[in-house]
Formats: sequence, C-alpha cells, structure tokens
Amino acid sequence: MSQHTRLANIVAHRGASADAPENTLGALQLAATQGARCVEIDVSISADGVPYVHHDHKLERCTNGHGLLCEHTAEQLDTLKASKNLTGFEQEPLPRLSAVIALLKKYELGLNLEIKPYQNLEQRTVDAICEELDGSWPDSLPLVISSFSHLSLEMMRAKHPSAARAPLVGAVPDDWHELMLRYDAQNLHCADKELTSEKAAAVVDAGFGLYCYTVNDIERARTLFQWGVHGVFTDHPGQMLQNL
Ligand code: G3P
Ligand code: MG
Repeated sequence: MSQHTRLANIVAHRGASADAPENTLGALQLAATQGARCVEIDVSISADGVPYVHHDHKLERCTNGHGLLCEHTAEQLDTLKASKNLTGFEQEPLPRLSAVIALLKKYELGLNLEIKPYQNLEQRTVDAICEELDGSWPDSLPLVISSFSHLSLEMMRAKHPSAARAPLVGAVPDDWHELMLRYDAQNLHCADKELTSEKAAAVVDAGFGLYCYTVNDIERARTLFQWGVHGVFTDHPGQMLQNL
C-alpha cells in the first residue's frame, strides 16, 4: 500500500457531491473533470463481506433500496441504483469499492478512504478493505485511511501498518496529541466549524497533516489555509479550485 500521507488541498467530499449523487462513480468522475486530484469516500460491507462505497448504514437516503446495507448480499446490492433520479445520473449503481478503485486509478486520483463500519463489523470491514487495496492501490497515488471508529484504525494499523491513518474527530480534543500517538497517525481530520487557529497551529507545528470537513464556503477555506490547515473536504471541488 501507499506510504503517501498528504492529500491535495481540495478533496472532493463523496466525489463532486453537490453536482452528482454522492459516492457514485459519476460523482468521482465529475470530481476529476472539475480538476480535483483527491477524493473522499465512505466504505462499509455487505452481508457477505463485499466492500461498497456508501455513507449511511441504511440504504434509503442514497439508493432505491431499503434497510441496512450490511444485511444485504452483494448480489442484492448490485441491483440497486444510487442515482436519486438526478438527471444524467439515472443509471448510477451502488458502487463496489473495487469499481471505485479502478476508476480512481484511471483518473489518477488520490484517495481518503473513510471506514464506516456497522457496529461489531469493524474487523470484517477492515479485512475486506485491505483485501481490495492490497496489490491494487498504486504507490504513486496518495492514500489515507480515516475513521470515526478509532477501533477500526487500530485494526488497520495491525493489519497494514504502512497505510497512512487519520482519526476523524469533531472538535479537536484537548488530548489530540495522545490520540495521534496512540494510533500512530499521520493526519488529523476534524470538523471545520469547531477548529480554532490555536489548535490548528499546534497540530500543524507538531508535523501532522490537518484536514477539515465539510467546507463549502470559499472565505472559510481561505481562513483555514491561513491557519496552516493542509486541506478541506468540499462538496464543490470545481468552484473551490477555480476561486481559491
Ligand atoms: O471524512 C470527512 C467527512 O466525510 C466525515 O464525515 O459524515 O461526511 O462521512 P461524513
Ligand atoms: Mg465521509
């Protein structure tokens, strides 16, 4: 797996998700067309252990399916549409991670893969993701694994210590440095709204990568970059890149 720890300063959040159905192949391709060099996606597993790119545990908001993603087999999930009836994206499938990796390699996009495990499926989710990435992700492209499930990061560290890790947090906690050391993490991914310039400077001065979600306002992005933040996750990668 890749040793790269730094993502681009503009990371397309769930693809170009303001203009296309989030976490779909179409949204990722559009992010590339808009000039993005890195994307963020969310990953969880089917009942039979196949990793899919999808944000919620439940299928309703983003697909025409119902119930928990983790209670459906891959055969069932492959029949779903993740288009939300958006014009031009009607045929978007719920994508497997394998299909997304192939697309990212084609467009040479760096990846922040966020692990979104269903409760008690952490180990199976991490194992399935590692299986997809192993021998498949090119060393030439950035790859950072993040999660609100710090247990999943611990499992990722045990299984693949060379993959860069980033704990996801809301506000940067007072014990952020201990957190970084505990998971031997390279980046910290935090909520932009609760970040202060002092906290940002402390994290950056300590040599860690600092990335903020979800930033759709150009002035806010400028402020964060002035504070030393390395990158922002945005639903509008094209607009951000044009106006920065
Ligand atoms: O990884 C940054 C951001 O995606 C975390 O929150 O809920 O959008 O996955 P969420
Ligand atoms: Mg995410």
